[in-house]
Amino acid sequence: MFPYDSLRDYAADLEQQGKLVRIREMDQDAYEMTAFAYRLNDRMKEKAPGFLIERTKINGRWYETPVIGSIFNSFAAIARCFGVQAVNDNHAEMYDAAVSRILSYCDKDFKWKTIAPVTVDKKAAPCKQVILTGEHADLDQFPWIQNNPSDGGRYISAGSVIMHDPELGRNVGTYRMQLKGPRKVGVYFTNQSHGYKFMLKAIERGEGKVPVSVAVGIDPVSWMMSSTRLADLGEDEFALAGGFRGKPVELVKSETNDILVPAHAEFILEGDISTETEEEGPYGEMMGYIGKKVWTFYIDIKTITHRKKPWVYNLWPGIGGAYLTLPWEVSHLARLKKIAPSILKLHTPPDTPSVVIACIDKRLPGEGIETGMLILGYRMIGFSKKVVIVVDKDVDPTDLSRVMHAVGTRWQPDPASLIIKQTTHIPIDPSCREMFMSSKIVIDATRQQPGEGGPDIYPEDNRTAVEEKAPAAFALVDRKWQQYFGEG
Ligand SMILES: Cc1cc2nc3c(=O)[nH]c(=O)nc-3n(C[C@H](O)[C@H](O)[C@H](O)COP(=O)(O)O)c2cc1C
Repeated sequence: MFPYDSLRDYAADLEQQGKLVRIREMDQDAYEMTAFAYRLNDRMKEKAPGFLIERTKINGRWYETPVIGSIFNSFAAIARCFGVQAVNDNHAEMYDAAVSRILSYCDKDFKWKTIAPVTVDKKAAPCKQVILTGEHADLDQFPWIQNNPSDGGRYISAGSVIMHDPELGRNVGTYRMQLKGPRKVGVYFTNQSHGYKFMLKAIERGEGKVPVSVAVGIDPVSWMMSSTRLADLGEDEFALAGGFRGKPVELVKSETNDILVPAHAEFILEGDISTETEEEGPYGEMMGYIGKKVWTFYIDIKTITHRKKPWVYNLWPGIGGAYLTLPWEVSHLARLKKIAPSILKLHTPPDTPSVVIACIDKRLPGEGIETGMLILGYRMIGFSKKVVIVVDKDVDPTDLSRVMHAVGTRWQPDPASLIIKQTTHIPIDPSCREMFMSSKIVIDATRQQPGEGGPDIYPEDNRTAVEEKAPAAFALVDRKWQQYFGEG
């Protein structure tokens, strides 16, 4: 129940709701888990359950440590994590419920509520149930997954990297980590990341290594704070997580450094980040393409602590399950509402990276293009987006078939488009010739008014006519749904 203190509490709730399947074993030498993650998404989309695989074959060896994945497939799942009480399977309804719940934690100056974490004793910290040091701290005892045959190797794909800087305070960020040896992993900080800024500070101070602790398998809200940039530089992800949870996150001191780590994590890896860099990758990235090899830092692991019978949490970037960025989306919606008053909703569908859909309450001609320009000009969103589709308020931005219906029937490529020839862009988009540069487009798929080249009278659309003129009809059918199929 909300607030979940651990990944396990969340998984137990999912399982109780029938949203988590347990599967006896999978052969990851045959990429079975990866194909399963794809197929779940292909066939079930946001209705897909999470999965827990009890044993996994990797390099011919059966690992008995369970692997859990695909656990944030729907807005219902996210709503549950943020404490929405009445959770159901209606994707659009759950989107609205989760967004308003998240927005309720933000004041008019976009400050999020915070509750400082508390430190607990080692005895009260499940992540300390087993402590492995020296030769015993061997990463190969656990089933870290190679997601894709084209990946450079096995990865700790869902770790929260916790660092401390004397000036900047604490940072918690999700960065991929490639296994390089029994006690060595790469850690990839993009140069936009706070982790990278922390490294630069340490290098400026002439330090050759930076203490770090990495938590794997933590409570869902802390995990979302780690994975999205809600916290500005120097702000504390765990305090934000506490604010959303209405309850402090419990932390415990690491064994070999002073970094405080989530007490209820599945694993904690402690060590030092070297300020030297090495080659890392390639890796199947969130854009859905195998990225280039990069030069990045690595971590020498000194100690591994874990729960008894720990679970590995794995993530397949680019395959469904990406709704965990919703708090990020909501934080930008809140800011955009100040400068683009007609904007109602903002959705970045997980399967279509670089695309953002904005839903507006359009009054004036030109407001569609104006909203698109403001979104692209707002670095926090515009940087990673290349296509902005603006739709009217009767179009649910989370329903791609309705969005494409609007594109096909309300959009005139000329004049209702704005092409920006080149501007700054996320460097991992495979279509870009120059790093950090891309052309971009605003597609104004709102009904065009006469003043912007639309018809004098816009015809009613069939569905909106039913929704507006027979407002109870859909509710009636939803209520009787099971009855129609003899189940009510
Ligand atoms: C599964 C997953 C993997 C990610 N991998 C990386 C990564 O390897 N490097 C990176 O810089 N950002 C990565 N990100 C994005 C960062 O986690 C995100 O930008 C976060 O805000 C970083 O924390 P920071 O803002 O404190 O740097 C990843 C996000 C997710 C959800």
